[in-house]
Amino acid sequence: MQRIDPKQLALRPFAAFDQDWALLVGGVSKPNPMTVSWGGVGTLWNRPVATVYVRPTRHTYSLLDETPELTLNFLPEGMRAALQLCGSRSGRDTDKWQEAGLEPEKAETIQVPRVAGARLALECRVLATFDLAPERFLDPSILGLYPKRDFHRAYVGEVLAAFEA
Ligand SMILES: Cc1cc2nc3c(=O)[nH]c(=O)nc-3n(C[C@H](O)[C@H](O)[C@H](O)COP(=O)(O)O)c2cc1C
Repeated sequence: MQRIDPKQLALRPFAAFDQDWALLVGGVSKPNPMTVSWGGVGTLWNRPVATVYVRPTRHTYSLLDETPELTLNFLPEGMRAALQLCGSRSGRDTDKWQEAGLEPEKAETIQVPRVAGARLALECRVLATFDLAPERFLDPSILGLYPKRDFHRAYVGEVLAAFEA
C-alpha cells in the first residue's frame, strides 16, 4: 500500500459509506473489524478527520474505550460477504478475521491494524467523542432508528495517515 496525503484522497463519501460500506477496526491485543455505513470525512479543528458512529451495544464500543485509535478501511469490490459477516457477528464471540477471510496489517502511526488489501485505509487517533442525545433530534423520525434507545457515540478521529492500494 502506498501512503498518500489525505488532501489527495479521491473518495466519493456518500457512495463509500452508504453503498459500499467500510470496516472500522478497533482494539490492540485483539483487534476487531466491524462494518459501518454511517460516517464521514472532513475538516475539524484545522485537521483532517474521519467521524464514525458506534452504538454502545457493539463490542467495538468497549475496544474504542480502551484504546482511542481506529482504522477505517474501504475494501475493493467483491468483498460484500466479508462486510456482511463483520456487520452481523460480534467480536465478543467470533474471530471475524478468520471467519471473513480477512487479515490485519500493521499500521504505521497507531497500534490498531489496518485491513490488508483495502483499497483505502485511514489511520486515526480519536480526538473527541460525543454521545448523540435524543432531545437534540430536530426530525422526530430519527428517534425511530433507536427502538432500544442505544444512541450512538460519535468518534472524531484525526486522520494521521492514509494508504491506497
Ligand atoms: C451495512 C452495515 C452498516 C452498519 N453500520 C453501523 C454503524 O455505522 N454503527 C454501528 O454501531 N453499527 C453498524 N452496523 C452494525 C454492526 O456492524 C454490527 O452490530 C456488528 O456485529 C458489531 O460488531 P462488534 O460487536 O464486533 O463490534 C452496521 C451493520 C451493517 C450490516
